[in-house]
Amino acid sequence: MVTWSAPGKVFLFGEHAVVYGKPAIAMAIKPRVFVTVRKSRAPHPAKSPYIDSCFDEMGVKGSVYINSQLPSSSGLGSSAAVTVATLAAINDEFGINNSREQIAEMAFNIEKKVQKGRASPTDTTVSTYGGLVFIIGASRRRLPPESFQMVVGNTMVSHSTSKMVEMVADLKKKNPEICDPVLDAIGGITMSAMHHLVDPVQLGRLMNMNHSLLEVLGVGHPALSRLVLSARTAGAYGAKITGAGGGGCMVALCPKHLKSRIASSIEACEARAFVTNIDTEGVRKEKDV
Ligand code: MEV
Repeated sequence: MVTWSAPGKVFLFGEHAVVYGKPAIAMAIKPRVFVTVRKSRAPHPAKSPYIDSCFDEMGVKGSVYINSQLPSSSGLGSSAAVTVATLAAINDEFGINNSREQIAEMAFNIEKKVQKGRASPTDTTVSTYGGLVFIIGASRRRLPPESFQMVVGNTMVSHSTSKMVEMVADLKKKNPEICDPVLDAIGGITMSAMHHLVDPVQLGRLMNMNHSLLEVLGVGHPALSRLVLSARTAGAYGAKITGAGGGGCMVALCPKHLKSRIASSIEACEARAFVTNIDTEGVRKEKDV
């Protein structure tokens, strides 16, 4: 029996646009998902298409136990973290010897299958390798780690990534003349952010612009708007939706001395908030029993 863990993630820039080949920047964050796998001839059904697909892909049968510190369906990449940690644990428990690259690739294919074909490799890459990652099309690059002071606000409104991705696809199909320039502009914001990774004031402004464009794409939610505005009013450099939107989480980039104040202002809007920073480690082994 072995336990592996993988981190969650926040999109700093570029969610949704990344599905159309535009650049994005995402970061692994501290809450992790822990997955224990045990060989078993008569395993209990996992009741998760992600976990079932992990065993199918690896061609083995086993039992799985998940202990997640990451809220699910909230935009923090919990399905990718579960998939990556499950694949790594199966790999170890059954002595399969796949490399990290192969695990990242398999995890991406599983996400794509469960999300009906539309998914970027962002979540699975970040969960596998940790740190700060720049993604464009099929290419992924780890950036030097930055110590961003972040507060994540969870609206507690659950959403479905695949539904939100489908909604954007539909809007784009019906209004290409509006949506295509918006997706290009989000790409432009991400490229500009690449030049300002050590300038939180400018990064914050870019996050605010990115948030507005996500709202144009229809992935906003009144609860997200409330949290974003309250974080900005409490002194955040910038705040935006993170992940698929339509509920789920927002993220605020904060001056260090204001983190707790910003977290409290989010919680005052009947939401949950936590302070976080980069997790530079990706998927890792926790224990071997
Ligand atoms: C979901 O966390 C982010 C999206 O861009 C989808 C994806 O990248 O697969 C909406």
